[in-house]
Amino acid sequence: MAPVTGPPAASEAALLAPGSAGASGVTKSAVRPDLLAWGVNQLWGLEQSLENWLGAASTARAGCSRAARVAAAGSSSSRALSRWWAGRPTAFPTCAGRTALVTGGSSGIGLEVARKLAQNCCRVLLVSRDLARGEAAAAHIRESLGDTVNAGTVEVLQCNLLSLSEVASLVAEVKRRLKAGGGGGGGGLNMLMCNAAVFQPGGLVRSPQGIEQTLAVDLYAHVALTLGLLEDLKRGAAARGGARVVLQARAGHEGRESSQAEQFGTLELNNLMGEHFTDSGMRPYAAAKLWLLMWGDELQRRLRAEGGDGAKIDVFGVHPGLVDSPLMDKADTARHWNAAFIVLQNCLLGMPTWRGSLPALYALTEPALARTGFRYFGPSWLNTHMLGERCPGNRLWRVGGPELRSRLFDGLVGVLTGVGHKPKHVPPPVLPGAGTGASSGYAGGGKRKKLYGEEEAAEVAAAAVAPKAQTTAAVAAH
Ligand SMILES: NC(=O)c1ccc[n+]([C@@H]2O[C@H](COP(=O)([O-])OP(=O)(O)OC[C@H]3O[C@@H](n4cnc5c(N)ncnc54)[C@H](OP(=O)(O)O)[C@@H]3O)[C@@H](O)[C@H]2O)c1
Repeated sequence: MAPVTGPPAASEAALLAPGSAGASGVTKSAVRPDLLAWGVNQLWGLEQSLENWLGAASTARAGCSRAARVAAAGSSSSRALSRWWAGRPTAFPTCAGRTALVTGGSSGIGLEVARKLAQNCCRVLLVSRDLARGEAAAAHIRESLGDTVNAGTVEVLQCNLLSLSEVASLVAEVKRRLKAGGGGGGGGLNMLMCNAAVFQPGGLVRSPQGIEQTLAVDLYAHVALTLGLLEDLKRGAAARGGARVVLQARAGHEGRESSQAEQFGTLELNNLMGEHFTDSGMRPYAAAKLWLLMWGDELQRRLRAEGGDGAKIDVFGVHPGLVDSPLMDKADTARHWNAAFIVLQNCLLGMPTWRGSLPALYALTEPALARTGFRYFGPSWLNTHMLGERCPGNRLWRVGGPELRSRLFDGLVGVLTGVGHKPKHVPPPVLPGAGTGASSGYAGGGKRKKLYGEEEAAEVAAAAVAPKAQTTAAVAAH
């Protein structure tokens, strides 16, 4: 098995070396000069080593076993979580006999996640919208596997996630490949990494189904994919004692507000297809990330309540921190001035993609996280501590609670059904004496307790809209 480390291996660093084209330019944004990329990469490597060393030193002082360390990861302390990296590289769990699907795998963080999973013996199904770029990424991964014994495999699947009919074909193709076997996992899927996204791509564009493009790619494609592959995840969970769905988002800082995209997401239940968005800028991006997290949290609740193999699936949210990736090259900076600011921020300070991939890899593979979903992981506000547990810094998350998430869950499934996608629905738990109240404005439990009605829900949503915050927030966000 190939060791997988936090800081880049020599060959990885070479990808960022001046004059190197890298893997078709996929490891960094085009705006960051090679020399700057190299320097910043070295600095983040040093930072990670220091973090690992501090973690190792404090663990040694406490005489902690790895098991104790991992148990500490169950706490919400980001310090405890950062110790996960102590003792690299052997601490990275093997993925032998497991199959993972990674969307947006042909570049940036998705490529890093796919590569590290394959290095650690996983069968990776890499989804790319462009077959040639997907194959180039797969070739890069295979090359990095070298002659590693028992290395994993990579297969490329082509899908434009903008279109729900292409997502449906992707689901069918994944099922076919899982049936055909090749990577173990009992014919099921063990890890689903919902990573692909567009970020402020420009003016208003709608998907073939009429959904605003950011919502279509960042949110609906992943909701449809997850629901479409739920039975396969259950089979994977049954075979391997668990399965993971990891949602790539953007978190607020633990315990206080901060400048992150999802924090500024708003929710109007009559805008679920982005009917009221006037462009494909920060508003839909923030909404897509917030809704994805809310949906994931509710999915977890419903799967647990359902019991059986579904209850063995963990759903996690992650955020990568500020990462210099090709995402920035695709933002329409001429139209969205806040995107220009973010691109500049990323160019100067952004972490390399190997570091941005760490929260996702943690959520996908750490055995101690089994049955602990829904949880949300990412670096600290300044990107300095990796793997802190985060709480989405959005008012709707706190005020709306499970009830609003349940309504959103049903709303998103309703949109998919409405456009003819026919997703598998996971019904809310039936609570004694409460019908399916969770989605009708009532709290669960034996006694029906009204939490809020339509007006209150609108009020909650309106409170989070705060147009003033939108503009300033959007600048600092992301
Ligand atoms: N970079 C950051 O600072 C940052 C911060 C917060 C969150 N994130 C999140 O991290 C994730 C990965 O982003 P990244 O930074 O690694 O950027 P990236 O390299 O651009 O990755 C995004 C991937 O999504 C794919 N994608 C976009 N539209 C698609 C479509 N219609 N169909 C299929 N695939 C599509 C892209 O494919 P193409 O190459 O074909 O466009 C690309 O491979 C995203 O969810 C992003 O929101 C990133």
